[in-house]
Amino acid sequence: MRLIIINGPNLNLIGTRSPEIYGTTTLEELEAACRDWGYESGCEVETFQSNHEGDIIDRLHAARDQDGVVINPGAFTHYSYAIRDAIDAIGLPTVEVHISNVRDREPWRRTSVVSEVCVTTIFGRGVGGYRDAIRHLAARAAWPMETITYGPHTDNVGDLRIPRSEGPHPVAVLIHGGFWRNTAARDLLDPAAVDLTRRGWATWNIEFARVGSGGGFRATSADVSLAIGALVDFAEGHHLDLDRIVLIGHGSGGHLALQAAIGRSEVPISAVAALAPIGDLKAAHEADVGGGAVEAFMRRTPEQSPERHVAASPIMNLPIGVPLLIVHGEEDDRIPAENSRSFAGRAADEGDSVVYHQLEGIGHEALIDPTMPAWEKVVDEIDRLR
Ligand code: DQA
Repeated sequence: MRLIIINGPNLNLIGTRSPEIYGTTTLEELEAACRDWGYESGCEVETFQSNHEGDIIDRLHAARDQDGVVINPGAFTHYSYAIRDAIDAIGLPTVEVHISNVRDREPWRRTSVVSEVCVTTIFGRGVGGYRDAIRHLAARAAWPMETITYGPHTDNVGDLRIPRSEGPHPVAVLIHGGFWRNTAARDLLDPAAVDLTRRGWATWNIEFARVGSGGGFRATSADVSLAIGALVDFAEGHHLDLDRIVLIGHGSGGHLALQAAIGRSEVPISAVAALAPIGDLKAAHEADVGGGAVEAFMRRTPEQSPERHVAASPIMNLPIGVPLLIVHGEEDDRIPAENSRSFAGRAADEGDSVVYHQLEGIGHEALIDPTMPAWEKVVDEIDRLR
């Protein structure tokens, strides 16, 4: 697979340009990293940077024989209909990337005239956003998916992948993490989705409202429930087995998966696999996970609204009533493993059937990365739930 990474105006200055916003990686370093990330994803990566609109358009036209584009159009994002039309005209899957959180800066940066013609937009993840864009394009090529709208809001969408085996297929609902914030999105679980589909799971990798774009306690959980319930609408056409639905959540997505199982939904849930989850919201708040993430999600501290925190915390709503698989890496520096250890213990005490694994020497991301050995352990355990 061949990809071209295009950077627009002023991105030649990253490294020294407003490092508090764009970081300290130089363009040269970024382009080298993109080649490495491409290599890891089986892609041959070319890079291009220009400060001139016409040159960017010419490079897009010349990309026709490539398989995908990653583009950070810089300030052209906000007004260049010519670049938008060029992306549209070449018809290649294109990912829009921004290093900074364009939704949380000057209002004019919130407008993108190119988003509409791109397969997804990644923003606010620093230069790591380019790695995620490359992975997303590789995953799209690795296994076809259908993006389905399940509700009225722009974030009410999910990607459905169907295995090649004969159905009816067990269903893995994938709920991504990222501390419920809108800088994180379902592309984070693309590699896991592809691998699970390969192993015979139908995967429904869902998006939902997040903090920064209409989400937060209740709104986010409501979307997750809606997305799970929507399986009923397309189960028959895709030969899905609605008696074998497993929710798989990572990080804050683990919290949402547990909450969804507590809340019940239109369809029965057979098990929850919570990977490095937040099972105890209060403990996560006290540990200040994600730099104030719990408070931003809840919009209240536990002191301000204890009832709200009780309702939103899986550990306060035990037993959950479905088999639970909890896996946490001991070296997780985002969400302490202690959060899961105490959650799993308490859930078992309250009568839940719990399998708990605390993995030595493993961090947060390894649990969802099929290139890492920890994933083998995770996926073996998930396969037992089908
Ligand atoms: C940018 C955001 C744009 O608003 C800005 O004009 C840039 C860089 C980013 O990567 O965050 O030049 O695209």
